[in-house]
Amino acid sequence: MKNSIILLFFFIFTAIYLGGEIMKIGILTSGGDCPGINATIRGVCKAAINHYGMDVVGIHSGFQGLLDNDVEILTDKSLSGLLNMGGTILGTSREKPFKKKTSPTDVDKPAIIQNNVKELGLDCIVCIGGNGTQKTAAKLAGIGLNVVSVPKTIDNDIWGTDFSFGFDSAVSIATDAIDRLHSTASAHKRVMVIEVMGHKAGWIALYSGMAGGGDIILIPEIPYDIKNVGGTIIDRLKRGKPYSIVVVAEGILTDGKKRAGEFIAQEIEYETGFETRETVLGYIQRGGSPTSFDRNLATRMGGHATELIANGEFGRMVTLCGDTIKSIPLSEVAGKLKLVTEDHDLIVQGNRMGICFG
Ligand code: F6P
Repeated sequence: MKNSIILLFFFIFTAIYLGGEIMKIGILTSGGDCPGINATIRGVCKAAINHYGMDVVGIHSGFQGLLDNDVEILTDKSLSGLLNMGGTILGTSREKPFKKKTSPTDVDKPAIIQNNVKELGLDCIVCIGGNGTQKTAAKLAGIGLNVVSVPKTIDNDIWGTDFSFGFDSAVSIATDAIDRLHSTASAHKRVMVIEVMGHKAGWIALYSGMAGGGDIILIPEIPYDIKNVGGTIIDRLKRGKPYSIVVVAEGILTDGKKRAGEFIAQEIEYETGFETRETVLGYIQRGGSPTSFDRNLATRMGGHATELIANGEFGRMVTLCGDTIKSIPLSEVAGKLKLVTEDHDLIVQGNRMGICFG
């Protein structure tokens, strides 16, 4: 027994001595929450701890935690039950440390972060977040910090990756909601309008609208004419379908006063005389357990982020290209948006089926 303990200490000492210092990485989640964040934390940390022998520090409330030194040590035990858990165990915020100062007394947030990262002895920071997070991560890399990021958003609008985790879960929730609207629409011979999230992009509306059998799908990327929308509804009536399902992305053009769903519902009722009701799906799209697709994407992206760190490849965002996980420089991502294009196959096929995109 005594010999095996001595042997164990010998191996640990050798590993550290030969293998150099144990790497210590920080991990933070920033921006809107979504299903799959905890699965990503689990993917990063399990690979880091179990495969690469790294120490992991969880940073609370996004970049705010780096400013406040608000951290906790993450161990394998911390990761139990995360795979199917919504939200983020680290908490999040929309703190933007590089935001222009509004007064001379404002603190130098990037300098505070640099100092705290040094004091914590972090060799790299894994940033999990959407467009704002990628922009901040690129700026932290620009001031010399080692950063690797993972794309996260239900909006799926991050440049350079085919999909971000959170999107499939939001589409699945929105599709289920649209399915449920069909029965009430046909029962009352009404037009049901559902407003889904997506910020400035129409990905959630397009994917859930097509999956949910929407008759009219309005997205920010394609201008609409309310007379076309009304005409589609009247045509459906003439074809013996006295109800319609209209899926609108929150970012479409409105009168600037009403939400998209309310605006379109009122416009339709005015144009067609149909009784119309609207549903705003809102934050339900960001809640609950991730789909299996998002769990596996999160796991893969998390593991690959840790591989980049182990290989010393910093300043990069992990991406999904087809079914392959790759990575691109953060400088190529920051400040860009990935928007729906009219040649997207769902739009091509939808047009051929008679679905109205505005
Ligand atoms: O980016 C994700 C998202 O849910 C968008 O779809 C939505 O417009 C926005 O966040 C809402 O922001 P907040 O959570 O700050 O209200």
